[in-house]
Amino acid sequence: MHEIRLAQKSDRAALIQFIDQHWKKNHIFVTSDEIFDWQHFDRISGKYNFIIGVERATQAIHGVLGFIPLAHFDSEIPFERLCWMAIWMTQDAARGHKLGRRLLSYLEESVKPDVISTVGASEMTLAMYQARGYQTGRLSQYYILNSEQSNFSLIAVKDTKRIPDKAGTSDANKRLQPAFENDIIADTENCFRAQIDFPPKSPRYLINRYLRHPVYHYQIYLIRDRSETTGIVVTRICSHAGAKAIRIVDFIGPSDALSGLCDEWNYLLKSTNAEYIDFYNQGIDDNHLRASGFVRREMGDAIIVPNYFEPFFKANVEIDYCISLPPGQAYRIVKGDSDQDRPAQNATSMF
Ligand SMILES: CC(C)(COP(=O)(O)OP(=O)(O)OC[C@H]1O[C@@H](n2cnc3c(N)ncnc32)[C@H](O)[C@@H]1OP(=O)(O)O)[C@@H](O)C(=O)NCCC(=O)NCCS
Repeated sequence: MHEIRLAQKSDRAALIQFIDQHWKKNHIFVTSDEIFDWQHFDRISGKYNFIIGVERATQAIHGVLGFIPLAHFDSEIPFERLCWMAIWMTQDAARGHKLGRRLLSYLEESVKPDVISTVGASEMTLAMYQARGYQTGRLSQYYILNSEQSNFSLIAVKDTKRIPDKAGTSDANKRLQPAFENDIIADTENCFRAQIDFPPKSPRYLINRYLRHPVYHYQIYLIRDRSETTGIVVTRICSHAGAKAIRIVDFIGPSDALSGLCDEWNYLLKSTNAEYIDFYNQGIDDNHLRASGFVRREMGDAIIVPNYFEPFFKANVEIDYCISLPPGQAYRIVKGDSDQDRPAQNATSMF
């Protein structure tokens, strides 16, 4: 009944219309060609990284599965190394007839990534991933509050006595140094070489994914330990009604590079006048995050550390993921992976 294939340039209008009608009205892909192409157009193949299910009789799109290869931001990374799945949707009338699973099978069998992952999986799909043998889990959200502020407008603290104390340390030899494209190319080789956890990222990946983002402004910091660069932190400031939050969206390097950075985070919070720093991740050592001054938000904690800013939504948000790696292989997931840190509203520049 359905032909399953990659979307061609000529499918673009129908694909966007499907997203508008079935996924979300006025989605950013509907209102911004720039963001859609930036995330899904493969300039090398001239196709979209979107698998579509087209009804043979009518040629109408009935289902879509978008994906983002790690190689999308660095063509020297093999295309097959990792693909993150993004929008996965079949229209109501087609549901439950295996079209969704056929789209996913096409990704597995025709695109053939070594590893497939989703960040931000909906509850109903977790069982479908588990049935395919994928691992599923939930990102942890870590945060540091600005200790110089007592009245928060983004964060909600219901009971200060029930907020765990942070227990980080400060190493006078460690600094966070703002970094630009040249610094990433020239001064970070050992951080990338030391990557053990999957997926291995590259300097070009960080530059294209973050520093050359068409809309968002990301700030990258090198973790300097005396004269050595031991880690790379990618951040973005989110704001609402004049209040700011610093979001850590990526991190490269061994997790112990984060230990002892308490004073540096506090300085960053003070100098940007932000309410908090947060860091959603999976696979970064909890002891090193705590030694950096981070506190992990737990389910019953009396605090809200918002995730959504476009529009702002004062609520804790749990982010579930799946990954097709075999158990036992270490991996990292951060908020900058997949489409989690993507503009949700149309704007030419968002700082
Ligand atoms: C997820 C989705 C793409 C799957 O597409 P699909 O064409 O229904 O998929 P399949 O027919 O291959 O499998 C459906 C399975 O989902 C389950 N399911 C849950 N709710 C369902 C529903 N309302 N209708 C049909 N199946 C449903 C069934 O267990 C079914 O498995 P089964 O055939 O073994 O019983 C589709 O359900 C959808 O568009 N959901 C809403 C959007 C969404 O949550 N996307 C994922 C974002 S991470």
